[in-house]
Amino acid sequence: MARANRAFLRRAVGYLVDAGIRQFLDIGSGIPTAGNVHEIAQKAAPDARVVYVDIDPQAVMESLEILDGNPYASAVQGDLRDAAAILRSPAVRRLLDFRQPVGLLIVSVLHFVPEDGPAYDAVAHLVGALPSGSYLALSHAASEAFDHLFQQSANKDDVYRQQTPTPGTSRTREEVERFFAGLDMVKPGLVRLGEWRPDPADPEAGGHGAWAGIGRKA
Ligand SMILES: C[S@@+](CC[C@H](N)C(=O)[O-])C[C@H]1O[C@@H](n2cnc3c(N)ncnc32)[C@H](O)[C@@H]1O
Repeated sequence: MARANRAFLRRAVGYLVDAGIRQFLDIGSGIPTAGNVHEIAQKAAPDARVVYVDIDPQAVMESLEILDGNPYASAVQGDLRDAAAILRSPAVRRLLDFRQPVGLLIVSVLHFVPEDGPAYDAVAHLVGALPSGSYLALSHAASEAFDHLFQQSANKDDVYRQQTPTPGTSRTREEVERFFAGLDMVKPGLVRLGEWRPDPADPEAGGHGAWAGIGRKA
């Protein structure tokens, strides 16, 4: 599922670059791995700007290490639930121009924000700060898939919590769709990871476990 998620991220960034997006705010960006956003975006457009944000200082430190010498990309520590602080951060203000469309990436992160209020408020705040023509790309663990995976268990979320140090929750398709409120969904809409514009040259199994989609701000 992690690999299928990264494959979705690659396709999403490729789609956004093709759509003319030249600046990205990647929240919950994680520890850098193969096919990072700045690598994909700057391959197509060398001056594309990327700010990575993560709550985990280790992820930020490793991101800054690989970004050393890259004038158009940076990483900052931040909490998705405090969207205002992210938007105020010096790296965001220095690298991103909010008068131009932005690609907001919140990929495989919101299931680590189990409380609905802060999760929906944060996305609405961030989308509200974007100019027209911007996009939100998002993936989120699917309750429907997790229910199937953990059908033997009394409580799927308890199983998850026993295995990891971070609380997590899955959401249904309808609940994930609410994050795109007010945005125009890019075809094929909100679908399973593996169904979002699959690339035969970049196939990945495991694309059933999360919902994925891109919305455009009119
Ligand atoms: C599964 S990884 C996803 C990484 C990357 N976006 C991807 O799709 O490959 C989730 C990341 O979200 C980060 N995270 C969790 N809660 C967060 C929060 N409240 N604010 C910012 N980042 C958060 C974690 O530290 C982790 O690096």
